[in-house]
Amino acid sequence: MASFYCRWRTVLVCVCTPCISLVLLFVYATVMLCLSMNDGTTGLRPNHFVAPGTFSNQSFGPLPKTFWELRQHGDTIWNRLQLTIDRHFNLILHPNNTERGSDNDTLYESLRKQGFSEVTNLDSMRKSFDQLPQQLQEFVSHIHRRDYPTLIQPDGVCGAGAKDEREAPLLLLAIKSTEQNFKNRQAIRQTWGQARWVAGQWRKGKVGGEGEGGGYVRRVFLLGKGREEDVGVSSSDLLQIESERYGDILQWDFRDTFFNLTLKDVLFWSWFSHSCNRTLFVFKGDDDVFVNTPKMMMYLQDQLRKPQAHKTIEDFMVGDVIVGGLPNRVNQSKYFIPDSFYKGLYPLYAGGGGVVYSGLLTKRLEHMSKRVHLFPIDDVYVGMCMVRLNARVVHHPAFLTFDFPNRKEEEELCSYHTILLVHKRSPTQVVKLWASMKMTQALCWDAPLREANLNENTIKV
Ligand SMILES: *[C@@H]1O[C@H](CO)[C@@H](O)[C@H](O)[C@H]1NC(C)=O
Ligand SMILES: *[C@@H]1O[C@H](CO)[C@@H](O)[C@H](O)[C@H]1NC(C)=O
Ligand SMILES: *[C@@H]1O[C@H](CO)[C@@H](O)[C@H](O)[C@H]1NC(C)=O
Ligand SMILES: *[C@@H]1O[C@H](CO)[C@@H](O)[C@H](O)[C@H]1NC(C)=O
Ligand SMILES: *[C@@H]1O[C@H](CO)[C@@H](O)[C@H](O)[C@H]1NC(C)=O
Ligand SMILES: *[C@@H]1O[C@H](CO)[C@@H](O)[C@H](O)[C@H]1NC(C)=O
Repeated sequence: MASFYCRWRTVLVCVCTPCISLVLLFVYATVMLCLSMNDGTTGLRPNHFVAPGTFSNQSFGPLPKTFWELRQHGDTIWNRLQLTIDRHFNLILHPNNTERGSDNDTLYESLRKQGFSEVTNLDSMRKSFDQLPQQLQEFVSHIHRRDYPTLIQPDGVCGAGAKDEREAPLLLLAIKSTEQNFKNRQAIRQTWGQARWVAGQWRKGKVGGEGEGGGYVRRVFLLGKGREEDVGVSSSDLLQIESERYGDILQWDFRDTFFNLTLKDVLFWSWFSHSCNRTLFVFKGDDDVFVNTPKMMMYLQDQLRKPQAHKTIEDFMVGDVIVGGLPNRVNQSKYFIPDSFYKGLYPLYAGGGGVVYSGLLTKRLEHMSKRVHLFPIDDVYVGMCMVRLNARVVHHPAFLTFDFPNRKEEEELCSYHTILLVHKRSPTQVVKLWASMKMTQALCWDAPLREANLNENTIKV
């Protein structure tokens, strides 16, 4: 009797348990399916699609209701434009459109133009466009254009060159300038931007000679065209003379406005890839910064000496990194980007006051930029290209694009020997600073580079 009861129980366990499990699984699947098809009206949000650190807030990108929603950016102009290109290279939607197969300028250009006419012909887009401020409207109307001719360029070489270079230049200084900023250029030429052999800072135990830790530096200024009334009639003539004298002017035929600055990146990358392919690093920055070039040389030499350098250098970019940046929604601001133009967070990017990247990365950026629509804020644009290259900019606290955090630190004797860059300094200040750094060189030669101060916000939002 007892054994019969036991057998019966075994049968029950063996047969019924899988059945019950299957039924439960079915119920679970049905419930989940219903929930995900129910357009969020139950108030359940798929919060795993939200980037870390963001909230469901009007100023962020709208949360997609389901993960396969393709039109998540509705009538936002830039997002819609970019979506047409991103979709073309989406390996799930178009498995055959690999990057390798389509390394073709004509293709990229026609993709950008095609997306532009598609998107701007939509009624909803026209409405968004009409709401944009005048300057952004102007930007959008020219967003697909990049074929601006070069007006002045260094003749055949990579910027003002160091004479008798015996090795590839270590650093090319590419400095955004404008026609009327002659004083800034002159100050830079005389101080931190001298194109020649620059010795790295002397180091303890390594005092072996000038050659230690240095390299050749080259220089080029990036300019668009100023308005005649701003600079006077003969500005082009003056610039031509300046170019003949110094050989460091690279000017293109587009209007030099804030929203056109991104063109300087894109066109510079293209020029670099043709004219400077041996240069190891690029500094790209403003003409109102002060750069500690000797320390920079040493820092870059250190990067080259790191293990695995030949690999890491391909992705190398360093600067003052801004994390989780939001588009500025204050309509009086110079950086104002309305909802109807761009939605979402900005990618990780380095402040445009000054950033350093490798020559190898420059070529990759040049290539990738063909697949990213111009964005009116240049440093954000570089971040957008970096994301698509799967590369990440490194933060270094010695890049002070928002100046020293306090006066006390700035007034310390060796303060300027501990930094790589500081923004912002007038031409007069730059000349003075350079002279005073020469004076304190003997005292401060071994001051280490600035490190993150725990009291200061290293992550800016
Ligand atoms: C969205 O976030 C911004 C910035 O944190 C805040 O100023 C604003 O009040 C928020 N808006 C809403 C609707 O919560
Ligand atoms: C993709 O390429 C493969 C082989 O090159 C080809 O057989 C296939 O038809 C292509 N698919 C599409 C959608 O073009
Ligand atoms: C580049 O792409 C265009 C358009 O797709 C095509 O007509 C052309 O043949 C391609 N050129 C090369 C060199 O692949
Ligand atoms: C950029 O330059 C082009 C060419 O000069 C000009 O047509 C356009 O209006 C400029 N864009 C902006 C936003 O100023
Ligand atoms: C640099 O460009 C020249 C031609 O302009 C080419 O011969 C050379 O191989 C290139 N070097 C590198 C490292 O790409
Ligand atoms: C800026 O915003 C204020 C308040 O929202 C509005 O009254 C004003 O018209 C806006 N200005 C422009 C130029 O859009």
